[in-house]
Amino acid sequence: MKKILLAAPLTLSLMACDDNSTPSEKINDTVLREIIENQELTGDPSTGRNIPDIVSPVAQLGMDLFYSKSLGGDQDSACVTCHHPVLGGGDNLSLPIGTESDSPDLLGVGRNNLTAENNPEGGPPVPRNAPTTFNTALWDQVLFHDGRVESLDKLVTKNGSGSAGIRTPNSTDINTADPLAGRNLVHAQARFPVTSREEMKGFAHDAYSDQQIREFLAGRLGAMVMLVQQMMIH
Ligand code: HEC
Repeated sequence: MKKILLAAPLTLSLMACDDNSTPSEKINDTVLREIIENQELTGDPSTGRNIPDIVSPVAQLGMDLFYSKSLGGDQDSACVTCHHPVLGGGDNLSLPIGTESDSPDLLGVGRNNLTAENNPEGGPPVPRNAPTTFNTALWDQVLFHDGRVESLDKLVTKNGSGSAGIRTPNSTDINTADPLAGRNLVHAQARFPVTSREEMKGFAHDAYSDQQIREFLAGRLGAMVMLVQQMMIH
């Protein structure tokens, strides 16, 4: 496990120095292990971190939510649509397609967008590549390509859970913590895909604020749970 955590960024940076050889010719596990050892990258980056065990109820709930289209405004896009574990935590597309797809359950190549005309700028629905979600709990400074979810004290091993709080797009100012950001960077980040028209919210819900959308979704999930409980009683 240690080596997998360290291997991904190294492999990527080595593959980026492109010549005519294929990635498999350029590097294999033995070579990679040597590089890791030479660079003394032998520590376990998860040491000292408060990461829930995958079998714990909170991690299992997170996984269920991650896979559920119920978090999409029109129930046609889930987190996993763009961050599938089998696709390296991404979506195998240059630019992702979230809502308004002609095939909501299809991931990767072939997933098309039905309503490009909804985008007034005429560009792609989501204009940035979907990064991997692997090892997200190991970041201590920022999340997103532009760092717009940012720990304000950036303490090592804390994933943004320090007392200075976390700046998000809902913060009132650039260096101001968002009081609703949650416990850590992972928590804070997960509050935003559901508020994006192109990623999960859909185009028919612009009248609602980010927080109203989240509360609506919490209510929807709560109602579903109550329905299931009633079905089990009767
Ligand atoms: C339509 C595709 C799409 C969906 C659906 C989606 N994401 Fe993403 N995700 C992206 C893109 C694109 C980015 C980068 C955006 C940026 O940096 O501006 C991103 C960034 C992230 C990051 C930051 C990774 C990093 O290293 O900075 C995390 C974590 C993440 N998403 C988790 C989630 C979660 C949790 C959900 C569901 C609540 C979700 N995503 C839904 C496309 C998507």
